[in-house]
Amino acid sequence: MCFAGPPPARLKAKVVVHAGPVYRKLRSTVENTPVPLGIYEPGRLRAGRREPPFTKTRLRGHGAEGTLRLLSNDVQPSSAQHVPITFILSGARSMHTLRLACGAIGVASLLAAAPAFAQSATGPIKIGLMLPYSGTFAALGNAIENGFRLHVQEQGGKLGGREVQYFKVDDESDPSKATDNVNKLIKRDNVDVLVGTVHSGVALAMAKAAKDNNTLLIIPNAGADAITGPMCGPNIIRTSFSNWQPGYAMGVVAGQRGVKRAMTLTWNYAAGAESVKGFAEGLEKSGGKVIKELNLPFPNVEFQALLTEIAAQKPDAVYSFFAGGGAVKFVKDYAAAGLNKTIPLYGPGFLTDGTLEAQGAAAQGMLTTLHYADNLDTPRNNTFRKNYALAYKAQPDVYAVQGYDAAQVLAAGLKAVNGDLSKRDQLSAAMRKVTVDSPRGKFTISPAGNPVQDIFLREVKGNNNEFRSVAVKALSDPARGCRL
Ligand code: BEZ
Repeated sequence: MCFAGPPPARLKAKVVVHAGPVYRKLRSTVENTPVPLGIYEPGRLRAGRREPPFTKTRLRGHGAEGTLRLLSNDVQPSSAQHVPITFILSGARSMHTLRLACGAIGVASLLAAAPAFAQSATGPIKIGLMLPYSGTFAALGNAIENGFRLHVQEQGGKLGGREVQYFKVDDESDPSKATDNVNKLIKRDNVDVLVGTVHSGVALAMAKAAKDNNTLLIIPNAGADAITGPMCGPNIIRTSFSNWQPGYAMGVVAGQRGVKRAMTLTWNYAAGAESVKGFAEGLEKSGGKVIKELNLPFPNVEFQALLTEIAAQKPDAVYSFFAGGGAVKFVKDYAAAGLNKTIPLYGPGFLTDGTLEAQGAAAQGMLTTLHYADNLDTPRNNTFRKNYALAYKAQPDVYAVQGYDAAQVLAAGLKAVNGDLSKRDQLSAAMRKVTVDSPRGKFTISPAGNPVQDIFLREVKGNNNEFRSVAVKALSDPARGCRL
């Protein structure tokens, strides 16, 4: 619980209570008096109406203790059970944790209990890391967290002059669990900032929750085009890429290399589909086209039948989006089938980033497009790689860079408001204005909240994705549908 400064005289509170299948929203205005605090005016019930309270709560914080009574005919208390509910007084610079004694309120209601946001100027900043720590993208999640923490450590463990406190959720790259997972961070842990995630489908749910709850969201990987397209918002910013960006650049490169008939093979979800769309758009610029799109469900790795089909069709090239453990298996299977000798395999850099030790000979010589290359010989990248290796005894990859830059963008925003998260408009605006001095090279953020950045053509040599050329300079996502 944190509280800074005296509360304003009049506070608005929004409480959502679920009780079994019945739920009811109570919007109340709370008069903040000294001690005892509390007394409300339920939104849909008339003020002053005397109805039996279904629950009593103790409001704690800033030295005051008071009782808040919530009235509802819809909610039946049963056996007493204490459930902490975060009750946010908007307009206040504080969050107060309430304990509701109400048997019918369980975890679901806890997650549905409704904070708007109210954020403080002092105390630790609460960062909610929602990342995959298990499954095919686990290594990506860990690299992002490492990168984020590295920048924070380089700032003496503080951002905007404030300590940092981490809250973590393993999202398992499972969109069906995404809303519950993000609500654990927003409503249970009351994080100030959400950072996540890797998987586009999960990130779409995070973006919706961030919008619904007006929570600041920084996306350190997931490229779902819609997040900086129709779903764009001032509180959402990405430090990675849109799925369209590296796909489009690879299409341009493939066209320059004479590809006329390409096939695509990817996981069947937003990232794969959008990456392929970008590739087709880039390729069509030079008259090439995608003759057949193949796919399989995420995170399946049974590629054999699809590789047989590619062998039969004999396209000029194959373009594939896979990442993490799935990319390791795919690149090895492609080579084991002998296809890499006759049909070049292209992709966004995720196909070979953070995977090369496991892919070994199968990946050598592969060309991919991405906004990072391991051997960028700049002081910024060299220092980053040295510090990362020292801290984690491992080499960084693009995911680590994106996590690092997520912390950099947040740090820049917080600096602009002296760590005062209640200055949200200024904070969001400052985060968009920053020119990020990234290990990938400097980049800016578009009005839609997506990096405007160079996309490199890279070639696999040993365990590195080495820079070959700039495929497309300062590429900006088209941000179709964004109205910012
Ligand atoms: C995505 O789902 O957006 C994604 C996952 C892994 C790497 C790149 C993109």
